[in-house]
Amino acid sequence: MRFPTLLFSLSLAILSLFASTELKGDWTFVRNGTTGITASQVILVSPTLILMLDRVLGDPLQINGHQAWAELWNLETNTGFAVNAITNTFCASGAFISNGTMVSVGGQAVEFPPNVTVPPDADGRMGIRIFEPCDDPSGLSCTLFEDPATLHLAVYRWYPSSLRIFDGSLMIIGGTHEQTPFYNTDPENTFEFFPAKDDSRTRFSPFLARTVPTNLFPRAFALPDGKIFMVAYNQSIVYDIEAQTETILPSLPNGIHATNPKDGTATLLPLFPPEYIPEILVCGGSNTSDSTPSEKLSSQDPASDQCTRIMLTPEGIAKGWVAEKMPEGRMMPEMVLMPNGQVLIINGAGTGYAAYDSVNDTIGNSNADHPVLNMYQNFTPVLYNPDAPLGSRFSKEGLPTTDIARLYHSGLTLTPSGNIFIAGSNPNPGVIENATFNTFIIASEFQVEFLNPPFMSLDRPSLSEIPGQVEFNQKFAFSINIPEILNTNDIKVALMDMGYSSHAFHSSSRLVFMNAELSEDEKSLTVTTPPNNRVYPPGPAYIFVTVDDVTSTGTRVMVGNGAAPPVKDQGISVSRQV
Ligand SMILES: *[C@@H]1O[C@H](CO)[C@@H](O)[C@H](O)[C@H]1NC(C)=O
Ligand SMILES: *[C@@H]1O[C@H](CO)[C@@H](O)[C@H](O)[C@H]1NC(C)=O
Ligand SMILES: *[C@@H]1O[C@H](CO)[C@@H](O)[C@H](O)[C@H]1NC(C)=O
Ligand SMILES: *[C@@H]1O[C@H](CO)[C@@H](O)[C@H](O)[C@H]1NC(C)=O
Ligand SMILES: *[C@@H]1O[C@H](CO)[C@@H](O)[C@H](O)[C@H]1NC(C)=O
Ligand SMILES: *[C@@H]1O[C@H](CO)[C@@H](O)[C@H](O)[C@H]1NC(C)=O
Ligand SMILES: *[C@@H]1O[C@H](CO)[C@@H](O)[C@H](O)[C@H]1NC(C)=O
Repeated sequence: MRFPTLLFSLSLAILSLFASTELKGDWTFVRNGTTGITASQVILVSPTLILMLDRVLGDPLQINGHQAWAELWNLETNTGFAVNAITNTFCASGAFISNGTMVSVGGQAVEFPPNVTVPPDADGRMGIRIFEPCDDPSGLSCTLFEDPATLHLAVYRWYPSSLRIFDGSLMIIGGTHEQTPFYNTDPENTFEFFPAKDDSRTRFSPFLARTVPTNLFPRAFALPDGKIFMVAYNQSIVYDIEAQTETILPSLPNGIHATNPKDGTATLLPLFPPEYIPEILVCGGSNTSDSTPSEKLSSQDPASDQCTRIMLTPEGIAKGWVAEKMPEGRMMPEMVLMPNGQVLIINGAGTGYAAYDSVNDTIGNSNADHPVLNMYQNFTPVLYNPDAPLGSRFSKEGLPTTDIARLYHSGLTLTPSGNIFIAGSNPNPGVIENATFNTFIIASEFQVEFLNPPFMSLDRPSLSEIPGQVEFNQKFAFSINIPEILNTNDIKVALMDMGYSSHAFHSSSRLVFMNAELSEDEKSLTVTTPPNNRVYPPGPAYIFVTVDDVTSTGTRVMVGNGAAPPVKDQGISVSRQV
């Protein structure tokens, strides 16, 4: 009976070949719906809702008889509706704090002419906007709270960065005071916090002073020991919030500048137990000199194709930044941490700069050209696999193109479904329709597009009975249903903050992997939360489980005691310090 056995095993082999091909699948772009404002800032504020913020210069969405500049997007219906904002939110940033409240800070002065909206918008430069946890899935009863007279920043900040830190507060970094022609010509070289520390005094930063004029939206990250890593221009530091000291780290190599208006992007790579060694990846930007005035720059100047990575250990810092090359140059790319630990690099342009109407040869108004989602040049998003050896980390396999350009003032976020919501793009001084060049429309873009990873079309693991709140260094179990075809030897459990997307940067975006044990019957998973509030700054998170590279949907959980900031240290300390 040798022959039939052979046949049997052959057909099994063919079957499993089919199965694995099917499992790999392709990524797809799917259009669904249109926004009523430009999605220049995007943050997931509940399992079903995305908040978008924009400027006060003619977005079509209306509220109270004038244009809206805040919109909630319902992911269940793929429709949006206006939310009332008081101050001008243009070029703000924000994050969740430890009690689950989302805080957006900074913005633009009253937009000229002030009669675009009646009553006029209020000055947003000291703006603090509070979006309290809102569990109405439709979002219709959710509000954005502002009281500019009593609740505001210490100083004017337009184009600041902000992020959640170890005590659950928001740290607010840099910015500018006035209309900037292109470079930061009127900088605010300080830090402050919300809720305020130091009796609302600001802290001067020599790092910010050194990185003028290319230091808008500094890229900043909360390290697992509680310190803050920052990149602006070509320089990097570690800032110790408690000791109030800045430690200078190596500069980005090869003359690359990575912050607005020469936007590269950056991410903290996923953190793994037991050591949670932080590594930072910076990609794209430009190598043109800051002494070149904007009118001598060109929309055709090639963007940098460099990514650089540094491990923040004494050995890693001694080694410095290690450079690698993306398949193409990217200005204003964004990076999205995927629950399986890979990094999606998407959006932006192959040439030019951020902002509009500043370079010699704008395209329409855009300072950038050659959108890198360009189907005519076969530009696609790129996946970066941090665990692969140097030289083989980038892949475009199975990634699609689209003909919607996503340039300045676009935004995106991972959703609890596991796909990526992409909206916006408006490199114009207002809403402009049909400004064409080549086959592209560099106009105000309102179409929403989702990028669906291959697992979206597969039978996926499903999670249930996840508690609403977990402490640090806590073991807890939840139910899991794993499709039989998946190999249960490969399980990854991700605890994630999806971040706040503004100007080619996802601040507070974070992925901490958790140790996991599958029960013998494969129906229950026991995981251990991060050891303390420095490894995962206390606040909301989503748990995703990836089995054999097929990711579940994400479930929201509050990590830590849920108290308002500043909260005390929680959990157990792990000794490693940068
Ligand atoms: C768009 O989203 C709605 C609401 O979720 C859904 O019913 C519809 O099938 C989606 N359309 C496409 C083309 O995916
Ligand atoms: C706003 O004011 C300017 C200058 O006073 C005027 O030219 C313009 O027509 C006004 N716009 C609107 C929408 O009222
Ligand atoms: C940063 O870039 C500038 C301009 O390219 C260069 O002159 C300078 O040496 C760089 N700074 C450091 C610290 O490498
Ligand atoms: C702008 O571009 C044109 C055409 O390429 C060129 O002739 C001119 O010198 C440029 N102007 C500046 C200020 O660089
Ligand atoms: C700047 O970057 C471009 C594009 O990557 C490259 O062609 C050029 O040689 C670089 N210039 C310098 C001075 O490094
Ligand atoms: C823009 O183009 C679309 C499609 O051709 C057309 O329907 C619309 O009227 C145009 N809008 C303007 C302002 O020209
Ligand atoms: C969270 O804390 C902030 C800062 O103290 C406060 O403004 C906000 O109202 C709090 N939210 C909740 C739900 O308690």
